[in-house]
Amino acid sequence: MAKQEDVFKKVVSHAKEYGFIFPSSEVYDGLSAVYDYGQNGAELKNNIKQYWWKAMVQLNENIVGIDSAILMHPTVWKASGHVDAFNDPLIDNKDSKKRFRADVLIEDYCAKLEDKAQKEIEKAAKRFGEAFDKAQFEATNPRVIEYREKQQKILSRMAKSLDDNNLADVKSLIEELGIADPDTGSKNWTDVRQFNLMFGTKLGASAENAMEIYLRPETAQGIFVNFLNVQKTSRHKLPFGIAQIGKAFRNEIVARQFIFRMREFEQMEMQFFVPPGTELDFYKQWKEKRMNWHLALGLGEENYKFHDHEKLAHYANAATDIEFKFPFGFKELEGIHSRTNFDLSAHEKHSGRKLQFFDPERNESYVPYVVETSIGLDRMFLALFSHCLKDEVLEDGSERTVLSLPPALAPVKAAILPLVKKDGLPDFAEKIFNDLKFDFNVISEEKDSIGKRYRRQDAIGTPFCITVDHDSLADNTVTLRERDSMAQERVKVEDLRRIIDEKVNFRTLLAKL
Ligand code: GAP
Repeated sequence: MAKQEDVFKKVVSHAKEYGFIFPSSEVYDGLSAVYDYGQNGAELKNNIKQYWWKAMVQLNENIVGIDSAILMHPTVWKASGHVDAFNDPLIDNKDSKKRFRADVLIEDYCAKLEDKAQKEIEKAAKRFGEAFDKAQFEATNPRVIEYREKQQKILSRMAKSLDDNNLADVKSLIEELGIADPDTGSKNWTDVRQFNLMFGTKLGASAENAMEIYLRPETAQGIFVNFLNVQKTSRHKLPFGIAQIGKAFRNEIVARQFIFRMREFEQMEMQFFVPPGTELDFYKQWKEKRMNWHLALGLGEENYKFHDHEKLAHYANAATDIEFKFPFGFKELEGIHSRTNFDLSAHEKHSGRKLQFFDPERNESYVPYVVETSIGLDRMFLALFSHCLKDEVLEDGSERTVLSLPPALAPVKAAILPLVKKDGLPDFAEKIFNDLKFDFNVISEEKDSIGKRYRRQDAIGTPFCITVDHDSLADNTVTLRERDSMAQERVKVEDLRRIIDEKVNFRTLLAKL
């Protein structure tokens, strides 16, 4: 089995074993691509939300946050284009009866060509050592050029066929490339069909009067339709932004990578409304700001890259993805899009209401342009969780699993551990708990040996363990153990709050932005 599959399996099992993520309705064997967050998962998720909300809303004078409803008037989705165009091309394998996204099968084929190109580059790098000039090799090596040209040709043809809704050609491409069902090797495919990803439901008491509505597939439209309400009541002038965190639903055809692609998930989105003609400057600024937000977490610059879109949606004039190195490779974590005035204009047209801003400097009214930043909360969770989960071999040869989360995001900030369950140590621990609980999420644990308790806290990412022993009663000191270095120091009980706060507060993180 490939190593990255092992890593991913470990991520999934660790998330379940330590109360981060459970399959939804597990007692009924689960519901595909739907997950529940457990006691530690909910804390981590809340902390990620806080980091995003504080960075976007609290630190920016001209951004406010809202919380709009999941259910919206159905015309919203007609105007936004989701009713007509929020489709994925699907294909079934007649032998295995498995369903695939046709575009993903083709993209995976291209990814294999890229792997081959990378192998050539790696081989050459080894052969030439320090003298290796990667850029020159990529530009001149016939095999690398061939692999890349082939990818380009395939992807352009697919993009054109999808654009023209020529689904027969998408199927021909799959057949010409000899793409087989990855699990069974069968090449017996059905035709390609379009499949709308929105979940429909009904609003109303009786069947005759019920209105067909949708669970929102993105939170952004709740921001667009509230643009004027917020602008007028907040009295913000352009440029200003509206942020929101909330659930979104997509009936994904293939949802295999744990919480990477879910049917119910959360988005953290911000729409920045700007005067026409200034949008590309703000787009550049937001690209930089959002990348800094990620880098401040300290997971390593090499694990992020921009993927600028060459082919743009008809309403966008610039778009990029921030990709993260997940255990299964670089994949989209966040999207940043310059969406022109497409959405507000579409809502003006469908609602018959003006959604404009009177600009006193330009002395004119116009439909604002929009730069959007959109990140999946669950994907951000997976990025952090998979990157921070590590198996370490210690100096004495023993092993530990540690979740080295940025301290501000850790579910539990400190665990208070009385060495034994007697001699007044639990009471002493309780006093510390009762003092710290107003500032931090802390827990107290008495069961098992101290070593086992340390390991358990390492596994859920707790930055500090506070051990209460017999000396504590005499001199009011405790042993403070730090998660990453495992260094232990004796500290006064009255210094605990300050020491913990210095390490775990959001200020330190936010000050880096
Ligand atoms: N309003 C723009 C929008 O929704 P998107 O690229 O479709 O754009 C934005 O989604 C982000 O939402 C993605 O970058 C990803 O992080 C997250 N996302 C999208 N679909 C998802 C899914 N099925 N499961 C989990 N996260 C998802």
